[in-house]
Amino acid sequence: MSAHDLLPSRPELSALASAQLAPPFLFGAATAAYQIEGAATEGGRGPSIWDRFSHEPGRTVNGDTGDVACDHYHRWRDDVALMSRLGLQAYRFSIAWSRVQPAGRGAWNDEGIAFYDRLVDALLERGIQPHATLYHWDLPQALQDAGGWARRDTAFHFADYAGKVGRVLGDRLASLCTHNEPWCTAVLGHEVGKFAPGLQAPALAAQVSHHLLLSHGLAVERLRADGVRAPLGIVLNQSPVSAASASAEDRAAAATEYARFVRWYMDPVFKGQYPEDPGIVHRPRVEPGDLATISAPIDLLGLNYYTRIWVSRSEPVQPRPDALGVTDMGWEIYPEGLRDQLLALHREYPNLPPVFITENGMAEADQLHEGQVDDPRRVAYLHAHLEAVAQARAAGVDVRGYFYWSLMDNYEWDSGYAKRFGIVHVDYTTQVRTPKASALWYRDTIARLQERQAGRG
Ligand code: FCB
Repeated sequence: MSAHDLLPSRPELSALASAQLAPPFLFGAATAAYQIEGAATEGGRGPSIWDRFSHEPGRTVNGDTGDVACDHYHRWRDDVALMSRLGLQAYRFSIAWSRVQPAGRGAWNDEGIAFYDRLVDALLERGIQPHATLYHWDLPQALQDAGGWARRDTAFHFADYAGKVGRVLGDRLASLCTHNEPWCTAVLGHEVGKFAPGLQAPALAAQVSHHLLLSHGLAVERLRADGVRAPLGIVLNQSPVSAASASAEDRAAAATEYARFVRWYMDPVFKGQYPEDPGIVHRPRVEPGDLATISAPIDLLGLNYYTRIWVSRSEPVQPRPDALGVTDMGWEIYPEGLRDQLLALHREYPNLPPVFITENGMAEADQLHEGQVDDPRRVAYLHAHLEAVAQARAAGVDVRGYFYWSLMDNYEWDSGYAKRFGIVHVDYTTQVRTPKASALWYRDTIARLQERQAGRG
C-alpha cells in the first residue's frame, strides 16, 4: 500500500472552510491562450514569441508546440458547456495579443476580436463570470523582432492593445488583469532563457521587468481614462522563501530571493518604489514619473501559488515534502505556504486590494482507465489549499475567489504535453475531454457550498 491509498477519496471541507468559502466567494478554473487555443495560423492570428521559441530545436520536451494544443479555438463552445456542467462560477482565460493585433501595433484583427467577444457572451449566458488577462507571455513576434520588452515603447504598444480590449469587452468582463507573472517573462524569458524569447541577459532582464511594470501602469491609466467598468488588476506568482539553514548567509540569500521574486513586483505596484537589497545586482533605468504610473491604485491582486522556495548559499536544496509529497513537476506540496503568503501580504501592504487566487494546482501523471481518471492526490491538494485560503480569510485577508490551474490538461510551456495539470483530462489524439475525479469533487464541493448558503437565506 502506498501513502496515496490512505488519502480519503471524498474529503469534506472543515466547518471553518465551509463558512469562509460560501457564496459570494467564487470558484473557477484558469487557462491561458497559447496553452489551449491551438489554431496558431488561423483566423488572422500573427505569430508570437512562443510560436517561434517552441519551434526551435531543443527548447521544449519532445519538441512540443502549441500549434494545436487543446484545439480550444474550435471547441470553445463545448468547453464552456463543460465548465457549466462542472458548476464553475468563474473562468479565467488570457487573450492572445497577436490574435487581436497580429503585429502588436497597427492593424486590428476583427476575426480575432470576435473570437473573444463570442467566448465572453457564451460564458455570460451560462452564468460564468469572465476574468481576462491581457498578457500570458505571448508577445507578438513582430514586436520581439523590434526589440521586445527590452524597448520602452513596447509598453506603450501594450497600453494601446489594452485600450482596444477594454473598449470591446470592458463592460462585460468581471475583471481585467494586465500581466500574468511578469517575473516569469523577465527572469525565465530573459535571464534563465527557459521561456520565450530564450535570452540569458541578466541586466536586460531587469530592464524588461521595469518595462513590464510600466506597461501595466500605462494600461491601467488608459483603461481608466476610457471609463472601462471591469475591475483592474495584475497577476503575480508568489511564494514564501525559506532559508535552508539558520546561517547569516542563508538568511541573507533568502531575503534577496524574496526581494527579487515577490517585492520586486509588489513594492512598485503598492508602494511606488523598488526594493533595496544588497544582493540585487542589476537595477533598471527608471524615468521620472514611471513609479507613479506603476503604483496607480488597482482593484484586485491575482495571486498564483504553487510551492514554497528554499534558498541556500552553501548546499543544493532539495524539496522537503510532507505527507502530500511532490508533484509531477517536482514541486513540494505545501498548502501552508498559500496561507502564510496571504498573511504576509496583508501585513506588509496596508493598501492591498481584494485578492483572487488566480492559479493554484498540481501536475500528476494521470492515466485514463475505462473512461475515468482517478486523481486522489489532486483532490487532496485542492482540499488542503482551499482550507489554507479559508484560514487566511478567517485571519482577515480579503480573498474573494479561487481559480484552479487548470481547467484542462494543456501545453505546459517548455514541458510540452508531458505535464498534466487539469481537473479535466485531454486525450491529445482525439481531443476528448474527460473530467477527472478531482473535477467531480470540485463540482460537488461548489454545489454543497451553494446549497448551504441557500439553506440559510
Ligand atoms: C504558471 C503559469 C501557467 C502554468 C502554471 C503551471 O506559472 O502561469 O501558465 O504554466 O504555472
